[in-house]
Amino acid sequence: TIDHAFLQSLPKVELHLHIEGTLEPELMFELAQRNNVALPFDSVDQLRAAYQFNDLQSFLDLYYQGASVLLTEQDFYDLTWAYLERCQQDNVQHVEIFFDPQTHTDRGIAFATVINGIKRALHDAQQQWQISYGIILCFLRHLSEEQALATLAQAEPFKQHIIGIGLDSSEVGHPPQKFARAFAAAKQQGYRLVAHAGEEGPAEYIWEALQQLSVERIDHGVRCVDDEELVALLVNEQIPLTVCPTSNVRLKVFEQMSEHNLKQLLERGLKVTINSDDPAYFGGYMMENYRQVEAALGLSTAQWLQLSRNAIEASFASPERKAELL
Ligand code: HPA
Ligand code: ZN
Repeated sequence: TIDHAFLQSLPKVELHLHIEGTLEPELMFELAQRNNVALPFDSVDQLRAAYQFNDLQSFLDLYYQGASVLLTEQDFYDLTWAYLERCQQDNVQHVEIFFDPQTHTDRGIAFATVINGIKRALHDAQQQWQISYGIILCFLRHLSEEQALATLAQAEPFKQHIIGIGLDSSEVGHPPQKFARAFAAAKQQGYRLVAHAGEEGPAEYIWEALQQLSVERIDHGVRCVDDEELVALLVNEQIPLTVCPTSNVRLKVFEQMSEHNLKQLLERGLKVTINSDDPAYFGGYMMENYRQVEAALGLSTAQWLQLSRNAIEASFASPERKAELL
């Protein structure tokens, strides 16, 4: 049987983590006070009690509202630092974090304020704990492709700090093909590419992300099982899926963890990784995801080692860094 010490000891890599989704209620209230921002909740407990979601959109509404307390570079530093402390505790040794610049620039926060705060925390954690990192800029898919292209232009001066481009927010009704030109432009500029697909949206969106956006990894992707031909392609090409177990249960992609298809995906030879997505909202950082998966699905030692290795291999870390992590 798998014990806690074994799961703790595994070298972990997080590839699907929205930094805005690590904003704990306590820090949200602290920043609201510091910045004189009004919150429509009276207390931390009342806010936490509101984290009962029916689907992706009901979560996103609170997630965007929560981000309104982030104003200064120090706010983004404090947010990112708190997340990195959790990484250190959970033996997460490499992180590739998503940020949503449009959530902030649309409220008048400078792109530089956001990325400089995030980047400085990541730099400090690398110095202090040897946690390596990449930063991935996500386009909000409920906004237009023109707005995505404008965001890509804003990112240009910070290009050396951004490893890749992703696509997040409301999936259904916003197919990957809507961003075909923005992703082509990003590829032209040398960015690595990923996209959320097949979380709530259909397997067809996974095909589109691969064929029309040329992404290298699929974020979520759990609905691939609806399409045998797609599963065969994902297995043959070993295209990584950044699966987020606690997120999927909290957003009702699966009714409970025992119904999650992660073990089935692994057994079918898909390159699955485990990630925490928005841990402050879904109630679990990396180790909590490991624990809940083990409790509900009972993986073998070999499967746990495979999951750890998959994440290292699926990362955008340098070959030298991957060799250190393996
Ligand atoms: N899906 C889509 N958009 C998101 C998510 C997610 O799980 N988390 C933050 N933005
Ligand atoms: Zn996500």
